[in-house]
Amino acid sequence: MEDGRKGALALTVRLFPDLIALYRSAYSGAPYFELFTEEEVKHLLVELMGKREIALYVAITKDGEIAGFTWGYGLSPDEEIARQLEGLEELPEELRSAIKGSRAAYIAELAVDSRFRNRGIGTKLVSDIVEDFRRRGFTHVVVRTNVGNIPAKRIYEKLGFVQIPGSAHPVEHERILSGLRVDLRVFFYKEIDIA
Ligand SMILES: CC(C)(COP(=O)(O)OP(=O)(O)OC[C@H]1O[C@@H](n2cnc3c(N)ncnc32)[C@H](O)[C@@H]1OP(=O)(O)O)[C@@H](O)C(=O)NCCC(=O)NCCS
Repeated sequence: MEDGRKGALALTVRLFPDLIALYRSAYSGAPYFELFTEEEVKHLLVELMGKREIALYVAITKDGEIAGFTWGYGLSPDEEIARQLEGLEELPEELRSAIKGSRAAYIAELAVDSRFRNRGIGTKLVSDIVEDFRRRGFTHVVVRTNVGNIPAKRIYEKLGFVQIPGSAHPVEHERILSGLRVDLRVFFYKEIDIA
């Protein structure tokens, strides 16, 4: 009698190969100029998979190509980002308590393939991930970007994020292609209407 098993398939099992390639190329340009190895990005993505309440949105073209992605997770008070935020004197009180109560989420990654930029994909990804967090009961979403990252800032501001006063801080790059060694980052947040 047949056991229901079909013939063997020739498979290669890999960890998000297209996401890794996209990540590496997206951050090699302005304003980051960072060169990541495949192993470093794998490590980063595996670390993100271990976060609580993750959300991953991937934009795929009709031809099946990955055009962009965003990855976020629920912030817990002992998270490194949460600790950085809580150290800010000017952190709005409602955001401080959302972090303490684990009701704040963090968008850790956002990248769109340079071939597909300026067509609204980044905006759609952020808007969808925010909506996902809203449905799951988060009341605030936090992001961090470079002060000179005009497209990213445009997306966040357009979607109602506001800059957290006093949150500008330098971040030293380790994997420099050219240009900047230290860049200035800033946090934005958005209060979500869960009504
Ligand atoms: C940031 C990024 C994700 C944006 O993706 P995208 O799909 O091009 O974004 P969108 O098309 O939805 O929106 C970009 C906005 O910036 C605007 N913009 C882009 N370049 C601009 C410029 N030089 N000056 C002014 N506005 C600019 C676009 O006009 C658009 O605004 P609009 O919708 O009001 O017209 C993409 O540039 C990227 O992957 N960059 C590298 C990685 C990165 O910086 N990630 C963000 C980390 S926080």
